[in-house]
Amino acid sequence: MRLVFVGPPGAGKGTQAKFICDKYSVPQISTGDMLRAAKTAGKLPAELVEKMSKGGLVPDDVVIGLIADRTNQDDAKQGFLLDGFPRTVPQAEALGKMLKDRNQALDVVLALDVPSELLIERAVLRRTDKRTGQIYHLKYNPPPQDADLEHRADDKEDVVKTRVHNYDTMTAELLPYYEKVGLLRRVNGVGGVDEVKSRVFSAIESRKN
Ligand code: AP5
Repeated sequence: MRLVFVGPPGAGKGTQAKFICDKYSVPQISTGDMLRAAKTAGKLPAELVEKMSKGGLVPDDVVIGLIADRTNQDDAKQGFLLDGFPRTVPQAEALGKMLKDRNQALDVVLALDVPSELLIERAVLRRTDKRTGQIYHLKYNPPPQDADLEHRADDKEDVVKTRVHNYDTMTAELLPYYEKVGLLRRVNGVGGVDEVKSRVFSAIESRKN
């Protein structure tokens, strides 16, 4: 299974990705997580750290390089879930070329739809356990008392608004690109986590029809 997961900030991609990866036994490859790990390790250039903290996109060549390396590792050779990549048409074209060169192809592109007014609350109240990577929400999925919580630098309300705006601009081109080739499946991301999960699995299965 080679799947691309697209959705606005705070839509629930990371939350749902865990279920998909468990079911299909593929790794979750998140460019956001890789960039944050590089930042923590002091390996992300200062200008990119600043760009991310303001909600801007990092340059295409940086994330394309990360994905080319990561998808070539042993655990990703039989499949993967790409979370947050591609975000632009040039990234999508680079991915298409890379897979073609490896005689591989995408199976499905899932787009998780959540209206802007819900995204702010989902992102601003998100907390992640530093030790386990588990995603929590202070209102909808409260963390246990012993969790070592982290609040992302880009989860402030004004930055989330910038990220949502960037997402709307970018998907105006990216989603039609995948729709044209018949890969796109849209999923309603409003509702409880389990409700959204069953819609996600139905959409993945519908790719065969
Ligand atoms: P990235 O890390 O990819 O962030 P994002 O796409 O903005 O998505 P999020 O991680 O914010 O949200 P999510 O959809 O995973 O939501 P989650 O499941 O956590 O990117 C960060 C930055 O990196 C970018 O801004 C950019 O700078 C850079 N970057 C990354 N990729 C790039 C690329 N390809 N090109 C250029 N730059 C790139 O859920 C959110 C919250 O809601 C949680 O608290 C969760 O518990 C809760 N929740 C989830 N589902 C539900 C539900 N159904 N009901 C109620 N609450 C829910």
